Amino acid sequence: MNFHVITLFPEMIESAFSGSITGRAMDKGLITLDTISLRAFSQNSYGSVDDYTYGGGAGMLISCEPVWLAYEEAVSRIEAGADEETPPGNAFREERKTRVIFTTPAGRVFNEKMAEELSKEKDLIILCGHYEGIDQRVTDRIVTDEISIGDYVLTGGELPALVIMDAVSRRIPGVLNNDESKDTESFEEGLLEYPQYTRPCEWKGMKVPDILLSGDHAAVDRWRHHEALKRTGEKRPDLLEKWLEKRGIY
Ligand code: ADE
Repeated sequence: MNFHVITLFPEMIESAFSGSITGRAMDKGLITLDTISLRAFSQNSYGSVDDYTYGGGAGMLISCEPVWLAYEEAVSRIEAGADEETPPGNAFREERKTRVIFTTPAGRVFNEKMAEELSKEKDLIILCGHYEGIDQRVTDRIVTDEISIGDYVLTGGELPALVIMDAVSRRIPGVLNNDESKDTESFEEGLLEYPQYTRPCEWKGMKVPDILLSGDHAAVDRWRHHEALKRTGEKRPDLLEKWLEKRGIY
């Protein structure tokens, strides 16, 4: 997976993404990060990319041209990468159109199913919004998916982009090691995690459930599954309902 992020703050994306599991995945060559600075496509000597809105009102809007040029830059970088693998004239190459995600509170609310679907793409362009937004004409022209990470408004689209990239990355085979990925494809997916404990087995008078010390793996599995169902029913009945429906139990 190659992420191409169009942003006013490339360093924010780079520093957050290069740590931890996503950093390790980049070292392994499983994902790549390419940031495209919007400011580099400013049309004036001040380096600004925003302007007043037609019709009045507070706030500034990112104008079309810097976004369009940054998008063209992303596409040409993707095509340069594709040239190395697929020669021009190849039908697959001609057909391929990279999805362009725009992070906005007006988008479809992100979930695990969308992360899974996006993880199948070879390249993703992510456009981070800012200020009051982006001129509608350019988003109409280039955006294929508008995505929100929840019903609240952030100061910019970089954190949502990072959330999406993180959730997509962990679905890519090899990004998580065996231990980390054990729940991703399991029966428990769609449920909340069961409670977990580490040493000591007693802390401030609170004991780890006996069953976890029993060495009976089948009983431990049953207990964990029961706890996951119980917890999900208590904290997120909506998720439990979906989980049951998917299995034809409800
Ligand atoms: N930009 C500002 N708020 C956002 C949100 N909740 N989701 C995606 N992009 C945003």
